[in-house]
Parts: sequence; structure tokens; C-alpha cells
Amino acid sequence: MWSHQNLQLMLCTALSCVSSAAGLILVFGYEGRDVMVSCPYDPGYERYQKYLCNSSCGYSDFLIRSSQENKTKYSVYDDKTTRVVTVTISDLHFDDAGKYWCGVTRAGKDIYTEVQLEVKADRCCDTVNQTQSTEEGSVTISCPYDSQSVNKLKFFCRGNRPSTCLQQAVITSSNTQDGRFRLSDDRKSGLFTVTISSLTLKDSGSYLCGVQRNSGFDVFTAVELEVKEWCCAKSKNMSGVMERSVTFQCPYAPQHHNDTMFLCKGDGASNCTDMMGQSRFVLSNVSSSSFSVTVTKLEAGDAGTYWCGSGPEANVGNFTRFHLSVDATLHQLPHPAFYALFALAAGLLLMVTLVLVKVYKNKCHKTLRERKVSR
Ligand SMILES: *[C@@H]1O[C@H](CO)[C@@H](O)[C@H](O)[C@H]1NC(C)=O
Ligand SMILES: *[C@@H]1O[C@H](CO)[C@@H](O)[C@H](O)[C@H]1NC(C)=O
Ligand SMILES: *[C@@H]1O[C@H](CO)[C@@H](O)[C@H](O)[C@H]1NC(C)=O
Ligand SMILES: *[C@@H]1O[C@H](CO)[C@@H](O)[C@H](O)[C@H]1NC(C)=O
Ligand SMILES: *[C@@H]1O[C@H](CO)[C@@H](O)[C@H](O)[C@H]1NC(C)=O
Ligand SMILES: *[C@@H]1O[C@H](CO)[C@@H](O)[C@H](O)[C@H]1NC(C)=O
Ligand SMILES: *[C@@H]1O[C@H](CO)[C@@H](O)[C@H](O)[C@H]1NC(C)=O
Ligand SMILES: *[C@@H]1O[C@H](CO)[C@@H](O)[C@H](O)[C@H]1NC(C)=O
Repeated sequence: MWSHQNLQLMLCTALSCVSSAAGLILVFGYEGRDVMVSCPYDPGYERYQKYLCNSSCGYSDFLIRSSQENKTKYSVYDDKTTRVVTVTISDLHFDDAGKYWCGVTRAGKDIYTEVQLEVKADRCCDTVNQTQSTEEGSVTISCPYDSQSVNKLKFFCRGNRPSTCLQQAVITSSNTQDGRFRLSDDRKSGLFTVTISSLTLKDSGSYLCGVQRNSGFDVFTAVELEVKEWCCAKSKNMSGVMERSVTFQCPYAPQHHNDTMFLCKGDGASNCTDMMGQSRFVLSNVSSSSFSVTVTKLEAGDAGTYWCGSGPEANVGNFTRFHLSVDATLHQLPHPAFYALFALAAGLLLMVTLVLVKVYKNKCHKTLRERKVSR
């Protein structure tokens, strides 16, 4: 045993002089993530021990051997059918970067393959493009790429972590349409565009455009999307009471004509139902900058989202959005069982009172009699 290790030590020391191995394996990983170092070996060596070492592969430089149990930092799997030994290095740190060797133990000189590991920070990028759009609208994000990447896989993901971007991509160039996301690739001008439609406020945040590389780190550009509230002017919560009335105060741009004031109801401003024609909706207090609409005799069904303002609907400008809730509890008639229970309770109360009165009277008479007796 001792002689074997000693032999290896000698060989490894000799090895450090031999810098050009058969083939250099380049491996790329992100800080904090795992990386797999896959080393193929020739037929016939399936049953030989494999290992990964660093530095000059001296006795203390062995990181893991295929005969060993997995360790926290290094784990090993020798796939004898594909003849690839894979060492996973977990939780990468910047100082893990550098030169490693994959080795096959055999009589005589071991077989070595040089491995070069690069480690990068798992965030992107130093420059971030800002883009804005509005709720319910759409946005098109342009992602430029270089001429060598024309035939490479393009992808787009949320967040700013390159390590998980492809895995968590919302859209890729091999699946160009998925729900609200669409990707199109303009090979001539060297950019791909991603269109996100039916935007919501939750779509705000960071995104990455990625281009896959066969070797080396994938290439990323970063975009920060800000989705603004559709209704730029105001959004108000209002509550009304059944049978009573509630008044919406709406902005009125003076440049618009009288007939363009509107109040409509629905989840979206673009597909809401006009309410001005209904008799319970009364227009009042029209001034140069605002108008009011009073909703009379509120019903439970009046609860919901309303939009009002003036001007053409395409004008995203000065609408006000109201969320109206109608408090139905105050005027709700109680359940019939309530009356029955009430009557029962009242009856009981009456009986108890009568009994008490009688008892009291008896007691009075008694004390009176007693007093008479004592006198
Ligand atoms: C080799 O790996 C060991 C264990 O991870 C580490 O302590 C040592 O610094 C490494 N040597 C080099 C030159 O990277
Ligand atoms: C060691 O970890 C590898 C994954 O890196 C796994 O494939 C293998 O089964 C594990 N071996 C043992 C003995 O747990
Ligand atoms: C970022 O902005 C620059 C300059 O406006 C532009 O050339 C580039 O294509 C943009 N990149 C992305 C990803 O939108
Ligand atoms: C309106 O009420 C909702 C919850 O019903 C709340 O999330 C929102 O912040 C409120 N908006 C305003 C302007 O008070
Ligand atoms: C607006 O309405 C008022 C009265 O309601 C009317 O006198 C005026 O001519 C109207 N203006 C336009 C531009 O229709
Ligand atoms: C109206 O538009 C909103 C928001 O765009 C959407 O959530 C809702 O489903 C639409 N309703 C109808 C009836 O189309
Ligand atoms: C009319 O609108 C003004 C604000 O523009 C408001 O102060 C006033 O109370 C409103 N009057 C009625 C009767 O709603
Ligand atoms: C929105 O309101 C502001 C003042 O409150 C006004 O200056 C502007 O012209 C309005 N915009 C539109 C599109 O009506």
C-alpha cells in the first residue's frame, strides 16, 4: 500500500512537468452552484480506479477516487457503459478555479487528462437596459447577439441568475410561443426579440436574454422591465351601502367634448361595459376639470371595477379606476328562523316575568302577614 502511494507521488511529480496532456477539458461553473467534470476514458479501463486531483497530484492533492464514498464537496460516478467518469464539485467558490487532473490508476504510469475550471459570479450584468410599458399593454425586448451565435439556442428568463436561466426559461428559440410570451429571431440583424403581451404589474422586474454556447459560459444581456399602472391618474377604493347612493368623481379634460364623458364597468378598461345610459347612474356637477356620476339605490351587483374619464378610450392618460364594494350586511333581512327564535325567547321572558311577579307578590303578602303577626 505504502509503496503504491509512493509510486503515485513520484509519477505525479513527474507529471507536473508534462503540461500538454492528451486533451484539455474546459469546465465552466457559477459561484455557489455545482459543476460536473466529465472525463471520458478508453475501452478496457472500466474496472480501473479513477480519481480527480489538483495541483501536481501529490498524495495530499487527491480530491476523490471512484472507489470512495461521495463527500460533501466532491462526488463521483463512473458510468462504465458510456466510459465517462463524472466528478461533481459542489458549492463552487472562486478559489476552486484552476487546474485539475482526471486520472486512471493502472500499472505503470497513470493516464491523466487535464481539466481547467473557470468560476464566474452568478449574476448578470454590469449594464442593464431599462424598458417600460403599461398594464394590459405589451412590450418588445430586443436581445442582440454576435455573428457566431446565429445558429445557437436563444432563451429568455426572469431574474438575473445565469446559472438557472436556461432551465427556467419562459421562452426559447426552439419553442417560440408560450402563452403571453413570443420569441422571434432576426438572424440578419443579429437580434432576437421577445414580446410579452397582456402585461400585469407583476411582470415588472429583471429578465435575462441568453445565447447558448457549446463551450464556455452562455452569453447574457440584462433587461429591467417596469410595468406601470394602466390607469395613470388615480385608483380609488370606494364602499357603498345597499339602497343608498355613491358618487364617483371623474377627471374631465377640458379639450374633450361633452359627449365623451364615460363611466364603464368591468375588469379591463378596454372591454368594460358602458353604464352612463342606465337610469340609476346620474351625471352631475360637470366642471371644466371633473364631473360626477351618482349611482342611486345601490344593489349588491353594483360591486366591481369602474373606469371613468373623458376622451377617446385609446387615450391611456387620465382615467380614474374605482373598486366599489357594496356593504350588504346592514340591510339584509334576517333569516325566518331568527324570528321564531326571537318569539320563543320573548315568550320565555314573559313567562319568567309572570312567575317572578307572582313569587314577589306572595313574598310581600307573607312579610306583611308576618309583620302583622309580630305586632
Ligand atoms: C487542491 O484542493 C485542495 C482541497 O480542496 C485545496 O485545499 C488546495 O488549495 C487545492 N490546491 C490548489 C493549487 O488549488
Ligand atoms: C455519488 O453522487 C453521484 C452524483 O454526483 C451519484 O450519481 C452517485 O450515485 C453517488 N454515489 C453514491 C455511492 O451515493
Ligand atoms: C440595450 O440598449 C442598447 C442601447 O440602447 C442597445 O443597443 C441594446 O440592443 C439593448 N440591449 C437589450 C438587451 O435590449
Ligand atoms: C384597494 O383595496 C385592495 C384590496 O381590496 C388593496 O389591495 C389596494 O391596495 C387598495 N387600494 C387603495 C388605493 O387603497
Ligand atoms: C356642452 O354642453 C353644453 C350644455 O350642456 C352646451 O351648451 C355646449 O354647446 C356643449 N359643447 C359641445 C362642444 O358640445
Ligand atoms: C377584460 O379584460 C381583462 C383584462 O385585460 C381580462 O382579465 C378579462 O378577462 C376581460 N374580460 C372579458 C369578458 O373579456
Ligand atoms: C362638485 O365638485 C366639486 C369639486 O369639483 C366638489 O367640491 C363639490 O362638493 C361637488 N358638488 C357636488 C354636489 O357633488
Ligand atoms: C391629464 O391631466 C393633466 C392635469 O391633471 C393634464 O395636464 C393633461 O393634459 C391630462 N392628459 C390627458 C391625456 O387628458
